Amino acid sequence: MISVSNVTMRYGSKLLFEDVSVTFTTGRRYGLTGPNGAGKSTFMKVLTGEIDAQKGSVVRPKKIGVLKQDQYEFDAYRVIDTVIMGNKGLWAALEERERIYEKAELTDEDGSRLGELEGIVGDEDGYEAESNAAVLLQGLDIPDEVHERKMSELQGGQKVRVLLAQALFGSPEALLLDEPTNYLDLESIHWLQDFLNRYNGTVITISHDRHFLNNVCTNIADIDYETIITYNGGYDDMVLQKTSIRTRIESQNEQREKKIAQLNDFIARFSAVHSEFTGELP
Ligand SMILES: Nc1ncnc2c1ncn2[C@@H]1O[C@H](COP(=O)(O)OP(=O)(O)O)[C@@H](O)[C@H]1O
Ligand SMILES: [Mg+2]
Repeated sequence: MISVSNVTMRYGSKLLFEDVSVTFTTGRRYGLTGPNGAGKSTFMKVLTGEIDAQKGSVVRPKKIGVLKQDQYEFDAYRVIDTVIMGNKGLWAALEERERIYEKAELTDEDGSRLGELEGIVGDEDGYEAESNAAVLLQGLDIPDEVHERKMSELQGGQKVRVLLAQALFGSPEALLLDEPTNYLDLESIHWLQDFLNRYNGTVITISHDRHFLNNVCTNIADIDYETIITYNGGYDDMVLQKTSIRTRIESQNEQREKKIAQLNDFIARFSAVHSEFTGELP
């Protein structure tokens, strides 16, 4: 479960959302929708903890898998390393360890730091990292011969699978995806839909693809007018519910206007009678 309480976020004078509280329930798959510039990506960064909201708080599970919007970010890295980077603490320890080993001479300080780093690597299952990453990649249909290649050599569909493997590395309880279907062909989109529908944790995904949202989401969290409202069902269900709420408000307004008109009419007639009446008094 991810729970957001009274979150307010603004950039300069632009208010994105105010006093927003939402609960994302375990096992459900949420689509995060809203007009361009409404703050979808920003809200997702608040959910992952990449940025802090100016007000309010977020309670999230220890492990969250994130698929970022930038699918070129890891182009310079090997496929297998890209997956391992999904565990940030482990990756930082592995890199620092390598830098120390590359030195011509080790100081006492280096020696004790190496000891600490081995501790972190052990705690984070670092000795099985390569084989765990390889198992994940195989599960996502990325063949062994690709694991050593650079990310830049892969096409869109394969790249997104590797980034998904990165997000899934370390078995996160929630998966957060910002526009995962960009750059994907139809076959890869179908594959991703099936994959997400079989995933047991919480899913929160931003997408402009209505069909994708309809096929994947059990709920929609819609950002509109600086607030977030959650609806049951997919994208089309949300639009229907939103339309019916708007129609209801409009008909309520219409009825209210009718009542006001009747009331005004009554007051006008009453005051006319009243003045006639007062006029008759001696
Ligand atoms: N780091 C930032 N600094 C200033 N303004 C930002 C920053 N990030 C986003 N914005 C602004 O906040 C608004 C929402 O952006 P974003 O969250 O990317 O929207 P969405 O993903 O819904 O299209 C936009 O007007 C954008 O220009
Ligand atoms: Mg965005």
